[in-house]
Amino acid sequence: LSFNGQEYEFPVITGTENESAIDIAKLRGASGLITLDPGFKNTGSTTSAITFLDGEEGILRYRGYRIEDLAEKSSFLEVAYLLIYGELPSQAEYENFSKEITHHTLVHEDIKKILEGFPSNAHPMGVLSSLICSLTAFYPDSLNPNRSDEEVNMSIIRLLAKMPTFAAWAYKNEVGHPVNYPDNSLDYCSNFLKMMFALPAEKYDVDPVVAAALDKLLILHADHEQNCSTSTVRIVGSSQASIYASISAGINALWGPLHGGANQSVIEMLEAIKADGGDAKKYLDKAKDKNDPFRLMGFGHRVYKNFDPRARIIKKAADDVLAKLGVNDPVLDIAKELEHAALNDQYFIDRKLYPNVDFYSGIIYRALGIPTDMFTVMFALGRLPGWIAQWKEMRENGEPIGRPRQVYVGANERDYVSM
Ligand code: MLT
Repeated sequence: LSFNGQEYEFPVITGTENESAIDIAKLRGASGLITLDPGFKNTGSTTSAITFLDGEEGILRYRGYRIEDLAEKSSFLEVAYLLIYGELPSQAEYENFSKEITHHTLVHEDIKKILEGFPSNAHPMGVLSSLICSLTAFYPDSLNPNRSDEEVNMSIIRLLAKMPTFAAWAYKNEVGHPVNYPDNSLDYCSNFLKMMFALPAEKYDVDPVVAAALDKLLILHADHEQNCSTSTVRIVGSSQASIYASISAGINALWGPLHGGANQSVIEMLEAIKADGGDAKKYLDKAKDKNDPFRLMGFGHRVYKNFDPRARIIKKAADDVLAKLGVNDPVLDIAKELEHAALNDQYFIDRKLYPNVDFYSGIIYRALGIPTDMFTVMFALGRLPGWIAQWKEMRENGEPIGRPRQVYVGANERDYVSM
């Protein structure tokens, strides 16, 4: 085996994306050999019954239901219920679930003191992950690995209920405004939008177009199998850390620009193009430059080789929302030009470089008035039910504590010589 420029002799099987987890597990069991995967990445060697994803065919299903149908016909809370409990809720189950969540939107008043300790330039993701983690201190029963299913379920409800409150408060901290308390007469997304945008003592009506668009965006982001943040939630949870600490760890993983930062990079790229005169075609040509290609953000996807099924849905939503809201933003015009030109350019067609979900989500968030550094927070809000479902599955499977096998590639034994 050659690794990092050195030769090693090991009985090693490298897992590829084509080898199923079961095959690899059988090989391990049969021979005692190990699977080398530096950094515990891309092994495809875990199992889950939550989200099905086929990158070649562009298929994404939650619990067997096509994302297209869920985005069209369900609400975000229905999808959250589906991911977490495995079935779409009946009317009665939905009403109860939604009522429970509404009942728990308020947070302990002392949490405001933690919020007040943050500088106003604190990134909202840092504030969000800290406040979520702090719930462990306010609900210490979450530290008991043997608590009942009812107690676990209460933690899940609390997370779903309080996350929009924390997300909106993280934003208020950033802009230096007093926080708004939840308005429990509103639905999940409208309540979040009001807490985010209403000014004190102002009568604020949430635009139903904006609330519906947000609901759809959250559905599209609700799970995406075991990627960086999701496997982080599972592995932290596998040590029997509290669910709040596990979800907080997922938020931190998502915060990294390579995971949750893509739609922010898209908007920053569009701003840069605007500042340079707004010529989308020029940047498309630059992207084709063999020697020094310009990196078009929001095009192509590591998993989806042909198209990202979420992008199709979100593109239509972006068109509808922008038309309904009648927004007039030069950055959005540049985005549409870029998209149109790329979709009609043979170079991009041949390379299957289509705009992905992140290209459109940033555009919609921007049209909804959500500032760029809140984009990752919005992603976390959407991904929360997926993280919870994955944590719950890990726990219910009785999975052992995570411990990636390591192949040592450092120095051999060395003689110690003192200074
Ligand atoms: C996601 O939705 O998590 C992203 O597209 C990253 C990924 O899992 O490929």
